[in-house]
Amino acid sequence: MDAERIPEVAVIGGTGFYSLFDDVTEVEVDTPYGPPSAPVTVGTVAADGGPRTVAFLPRHGKHHAFPAHRVPYRANLWALRSLGVRQILAPCAVGGLQPELGPGTLVVPDQLVDRTTKRIQTYYDDGAVHVAFADPYCPRLRDTLLAGAPGGAVDGGTLVVIDGPRFSTRAESRWYSGNGWSVIGMTGHPEAILARELALCYATVCLVTDLDAGVEAGDEVSHAEVIRVFAEHLDRLRPALRDMAATVPADRDCGCSHALDGLDLPITLP
Ligand code: ADE
Repeated sequence: MDAERIPEVAVIGGTGFYSLFDDVTEVEVDTPYGPPSAPVTVGTVAADGGPRTVAFLPRHGKHHAFPAHRVPYRANLWALRSLGVRQILAPCAVGGLQPELGPGTLVVPDQLVDRTTKRIQTYYDDGAVHVAFADPYCPRLRDTLLAGAPGGAVDGGTLVVIDGPRFSTRAESRWYSGNGWSVIGMTGHPEAILARELALCYATVCLVTDLDAGVEAGDEVSHAEVIRVFAEHLDRLRPALRDMAATVPADRDCGCSHALDGLDLPITLP
């Protein structure tokens, strides 16, 4: 790729989110894990100090070809890193697990509970590579998301990630809620650990589209409602994400870039 068009920051778009930047070039990337969900689009956003090159990848593919449990997570993160990306903002749709976290609320979680069971969540199948993950999100990117969230966002909380594709039963949902967890989604993992395994900065902003099944004795969650509410809020999220991509500090003075220090990697990273 043109040396001046190396994107250091990327946005991975969630449900209903298929493009973000203008003047984009589509870049087809192949990886040892197959192709990513879609070609990566590389474009620019206006930033202090001049235009900044940024990348966008629709997590579910161009036309939602990949449901959450079939997203090629390893290929997606690998493809972004191979283009030069080191910092990733990753919006996603979630259900609220607490009554005060109703539709339209934005949450920037600081913790994650992995309830997936069927997803490959490592690049390191050979050798003993154990990456620290106590704090799954980049603190600097969390600050960027909190500062730029339109109308503000809840600072902290736990995102529980399930395999899906079904939504939770009321009993499951009450259990998650009773544990004090904040929001529930299907895509936040293994994205977060794969980013850490590639020493990338990564944080997510969750848009609550529904109250999950057990929170109130109300309606159950429907996919149509999730899509409808996400679309309703996309107009405020989209410009905010462009601004956030423009304002992410280039200086990575956090631990993420050192996540692999001292580890004996069995593969060469792109
Ligand atoms: N994504 C949006 N709403 C959700 C819910 N209630 N459960 C899991 N994933 C979701």
